[in-house]
Amino acid sequence: MHLNLFIQSRGHHEASWRHPGSSRLPLTDIRYTIELARKAEAALFDSIFLADVLGLWNDVEKTPFNWLEPITTLGALATTTERIGLIATASTTYTEPYNLARQFASLDHISNGRIGWNIVTTWSPQAGSNFGGIGQVSHADRYERAEEYMAVVKGLWDSWADDAVLDDREGGRYADPKRVKRVDHVGPHYQVAGPLNMPRPPQGRPVLVQAGSSDTGKRFAARHAEAVFTAHLEMATAKAFYADLKSLVGEYGRQPKDVLILPGFSPIIGSTEAEAKRYGDELNALTDVEIGRQRMSLRFGGHDFSHLPLDTPLSADDFPDPRDNDASRSRTEVIVGFVRQERPTLRQLLAKLAGARGHFVFEGTPEQVADLMEDWVRDGAADGFNLMPPVLPDMLDVFIAEVVPLLRRRGLFRTSYEGRTLRSHLGLSRPASPPAA
Ligand SMILES: Cc1cc2nc3c(=O)[nH]c(=O)nc-3n(C[C@H](O)[C@H](O)[C@H](O)COP(=O)(O)O)c2cc1C
Repeated sequence: MHLNLFIQSRGHHEASWRHPGSSRLPLTDIRYTIELARKAEAALFDSIFLADVLGLWNDVEKTPFNWLEPITTLGALATTTERIGLIATASTTYTEPYNLARQFASLDHISNGRIGWNIVTTWSPQAGSNFGGIGQVSHADRYERAEEYMAVVKGLWDSWADDAVLDDREGGRYADPKRVKRVDHVGPHYQVAGPLNMPRPPQGRPVLVQAGSSDTGKRFAARHAEAVFTAHLEMATAKAFYADLKSLVGEYGRQPKDVLILPGFSPIIGSTEAEAKRYGDELNALTDVEIGRQRMSLRFGGHDFSHLPLDTPLSADDFPDPRDNDASRSRTEVIVGFVRQERPTLRQLLAKLAGARGHFVFEGTPEQVADLMEDWVRDGAADGFNLMPPVLPDMLDVFIAEVVPLLRRRGLFRTSYEGRTLRSHLGLSRPASPPAA
C-alpha cells in the first residue's frame, strides 16, 4: 500500500485552522511544512504533496490555504528530508514548459531523485484573470495544450543522455555534445528549441502525477501519469474509476501496474466510534455554510446556488450539468452523483464537502480505518491513499501512532525504505536514457 501525505492549510477540513488540534505556527512559516514532511518520512510514507491554485479565492476571511509557493517549498524540503518523495502541483496552462522542465529537473537533482510533478491544467477561474487577462481557457483547450506541453517537457528531460557529462579534467572535455540533443519542437502552442540547460534528472524524469478524473482527464492520465490522485465520496465510484483507468492504460500500450491510483482519504480517528464522531461534530460546528456554498459555486464555474434552501432534500436538477462545466468537471460529477444517490439537504451536502472537498471522509477507530484501507486495496478501489488528515498535525499524529502499526502488522505497509528515489518507493521503472544523437 502506498501512502502520500497531502499537506494543505492546517488540515483538510474547512475549519481545521480554528481547531485546537491544529498547529499554531503561521502558515507562512516553513518549519510547519518541514515538521509535517519529517513526520511522514519517519513513518516511511512514499511522499508528501503540495497543491497550488494560482489565485486567491474570495473566502480568505474565513479559510486559509497553503500560502508558500510549492516549487520553492519543495526546494526547502529537499534539503531538510532525506528519503521521502516530494510532489508539487504546477500548471500546464499557466507556465512555460522550458521553465517548468528546468525547475523540476533542478529539484530532482537537489533531492537526489525524490521529485514528482502533479500535472494540472488549472480549473479555477481566478487563475485565468491573473495570467494575461485572457480569462479561463476551456476544459477541452486546456487538455489539448497539456498534451503538447507533455511532449515538450519529456523531450527536454530526455535532451541529455544519462552519460552525457564526462567531467574529464585530464582530457579537457566536460560533456559529450553527441549526447546532448536539441528538441526543435514547433507546435500550435509552443516553439521550443532546447536542449535543456541541465543534465538529465536522477530519476530520468520526475514521477508524473495527475489528478483530472473527467473522461478527457482519464485519457490524459492513461497516456502520461504514473500516479493518479482522485476524489470519491463512495467506494463504489472509486472502484469503477480504478477499473476504468487501469483498462484505459492498456489502450496506450502501458501496463496497469505502471499507473498507481491513490484516492483521497480523510480519516477522523477516535479510540471509540463515539469519540471519532465527537471530533467530526466539533469540526463541523466550526464551519460556515455560506463559505461552503461559495466554494461549491466555484467548482461549478461560478454557478449561483444562493436560492437553494438549506434543509430541503436536493435533486440532480438543482445543479448544472457537469458535462457543460469548464471548471472542475470531475469533482462536480462526484457531487451530482452523490446527490442523485443520497438526496441530501444542502446543509448535509455542504457538511460532507467541508470535510475534504469531496474526498472520502470516514469517522472510526484505528481498526476500522485500517479495515477500510485494506478493503479498498484488496477490492480494486486503490493502490494506496492520498492521506488528507482533517486536522494537522493532530490527525496525522494519531494516524501514524495508531493506524500505521496495524497496516504493518497486516503486511500491508513497508517497515523500512528500500530505495532512495520516489520511483523506487512507488515501484516505478526509470525511463530509459535516450540514445546518442
Ligand atoms: C487530490 C487532488 C489534488 C488536486 N490538486 C490540484 C491543484 O493543486 N491545482 C489544481 O488546479 N487542480 C488540482 N486538482 C484538480 C484536478 O487537477 C483537475 O483540474 C480537476 O479535477 C478538473 O479536471 P477534470 O475535469 O479533468 O477532472 C486536484 C485534484 C485532486 C483529486
